[in-house]
Amino acid sequence: MTVTTIVAPTYEEMSRVAADIIAGAVREKPSCVLGLATGTTPIGLYAELVRMHRDEGLSFADVTTFNLDEYVGLEGTHPQSYRWFMRHHLFDHVDIDLARTHTPDVACPDEAEASRAYEKAIEDAGGVDLQLLGIGQNGHIGFNEPADDFPKATHTVTLTPSTREANSRLFASLDEVPRQARTMGIGTIMRARRILLVANGSAKAAIVRDALEGPVTPRVPASILQFHPDVTVVCDAEAGVLLS
Ligand code: PGA
Repeated sequence: MTVTTIVAPTYEEMSRVAADIIAGAVREKPSCVLGLATGTTPIGLYAELVRMHRDEGLSFADVTTFNLDEYVGLEGTHPQSYRWFMRHHLFDHVDIDLARTHTPDVACPDEAEASRAYEKAIEDAGGVDLQLLGIGQNGHIGFNEPADDFPKATHTVTLTPSTREANSRLFASLDEVPRQARTMGIGTIMRARRILLVANGSAKAAIVRDALEGPVTPRVPASILQFHPDVTVVCDAEAGVLLS
């Protein structure tokens, strides 16, 4: 077990600790490749990275990014698309070159080709140095939902009713939540050299415990992280309360 767990007292502190880890990776290797995540959990850490850019000169000029996933059927200009999320919370406020920022190609109708191209782009960039992850209440990472096996590569998924329901809070209605997404696979995620998982709030407490201390099973996709050589989990006190 090579998971380092940091339980911060508050969401704000969790965000600062996680942002410090990302900033450290960028300072150590200005041309690093970051795997990025969306969701409500990382919003605070992205705000902290923007602050560090503004106040401390943290530069993303040579950084390359690959996001975990993207909804199928939403244009990049749709406010719930993950491309838009990244621009709104990070990219538009730092000195990153947008040409170096990537999300799975959801416009390409050929699923297999889009997935192969994403894997190749990551490989061509030298692989992901640090992958940021959130965790779903059902244990998903990216959009790798509980399943009978661990998906290896980038692929298209049909979202589970519980994930669509959880994400519907951000849409006008459940009907508007896309039914499919393209996501890095578990294999893609596990190839990152280092992983940083963030979680906050009491709704995540049980799944954080199950993922880190329960059996490794594709029924809890995040549990595979127990087999990764370099994982740091940063959670707030509420999400970490059930950890032994
Ligand atoms: P959340 O999503 O940060 O909005 O809770 C995390 C996830 O589903 O991966």
